[in-house]
Amino acid sequence: MVRLEDVLESNSRIASELPPGLVAVFVGATSGIGRATLLRFASHVTKPRIYFVGRSEVKAGQVLAELNKVNPSGTYHFLKADVGLLRNVDKVTEEIKAKESRVNLLFLTNGTLIFGTKTEEGLHYAAAVSYYARVRFITNLLPLIKDAPGLRRVVSVFVAGKEGVVFPDDLQGNTVPFRQQIAHAATMTTLSLEAAAREAPQVSFIHNFPGRVSTDLIRGEGEAWFLRVMNVLFRIASPLICMSHEECGQRHSFLATSAMYSPAQSGDGDGVVLRSEQEKARSITGSVGAGVYSILSDGQSVGPEIEHLLAKFRSDGYVERIWANTKADIKQVTGS
Ligand SMILES: NC(=O)c1ccc[n+]([C@@H]2O[C@H](COP(=O)([O-])OP(=O)(O)OC[C@H]3O[C@@H](n4cnc5c(N)ncnc54)[C@H](OP(=O)(O)O)[C@@H]3O)[C@@H](O)[C@H]2O)c1
Repeated sequence: MVRLEDVLESNSRIASELPPGLVAVFVGATSGIGRATLLRFASHVTKPRIYFVGRSEVKAGQVLAELNKVNPSGTYHFLKADVGLLRNVDKVTEEIKAKESRVNLLFLTNGTLIFGTKTEEGLHYAAAVSYYARVRFITNLLPLIKDAPGLRRVVSVFVAGKEGVVFPDDLQGNTVPFRQQIAHAATMTTLSLEAAAREAPQVSFIHNFPGRVSTDLIRGEGEAWFLRVMNVLFRIASPLICMSHEECGQRHSFLATSAMYSPAQSGDGDGVVLRSEQEKARSITGSVGAGVYSILSDGQSVGPEIEHLLAKFRSDGYVERIWANTKADIKQVTGS
């Protein structure tokens, strides 16, 4: 377990160890885990330029007001977009590319629990929001992340540690039994980060599980009835079982900046230096500091059992297969 005091200590050195003017892109930061992290991250960095993406202008306005309070030296841009549509992801990333030549951090929390509907582009909605949009953000912005000085990182907050069965030829999960959907989504997320990392060894890639955090994830807008019932129970129990937004923001700022999760090709993009008694995290290959991480809510790696499973998928060619099928599905929608 990475102790909260170690997280806070490392975060207190962000301003002195990372260069001023870091550029960060947060997708899904108008609420929940993304919002908590965005506000905490902004409070730690010097003169950041931050872009955050979501649909709700009202919530974005509140976030902007808070950002200007926690760090008035930063520049903040809200980009309104429904990222369930990949053409909107392309539009948003083009807007960012028009303004920036480098991106230090891509932090992804866009997610939904609405299953069983399709986007007008023909993708399963949950997969479009939580998987394809994330991959498209990564591939569109990777050239800018690869060249960024000081920090080069992608964090995808989702369901790390739940890796298990995966259906590489049905990435949208149309035929995946409900009880296997989480394992399927977790595995393709982790393996897609491994594929992206092969093209960018100077960037570190983290898929993490945030723990239980009381958020707006279930909004009563089309989720299954039992999820809505679970949500009511979850909210009642949340003071006892959930991580506070403050701790969540600090822990995710640590994930976003600590050299514990360094890229395979170590260098000036590693992040905030570890103290001598601290150790780098095990990557999904089982080696320390190898650039792709599946991380639990306590900040530690998933460990040998899942590493073993992922090694089997790797040797069976699943990384290439999932990546090729992902690109083919995206190409079918976007034409590129
Ligand atoms: N909370 C937990 O306990 C927990 C546990 C495990 C995993 N997770 C995962 O963590 C991630 C973040 O969840 P959260 O709990 O922070 O949920 P949340 O509060 O609902 O945040 C999700 C964010 O995604 C954005 N979003 C959703 N659909 C979008 C769309 N079509 N286009 C653009 N933005 C969209 C939302 O913004 P707008 O509403 O402005 O569009 C919001 O900012 C999710 O992937 C979730 O599965 C959460």
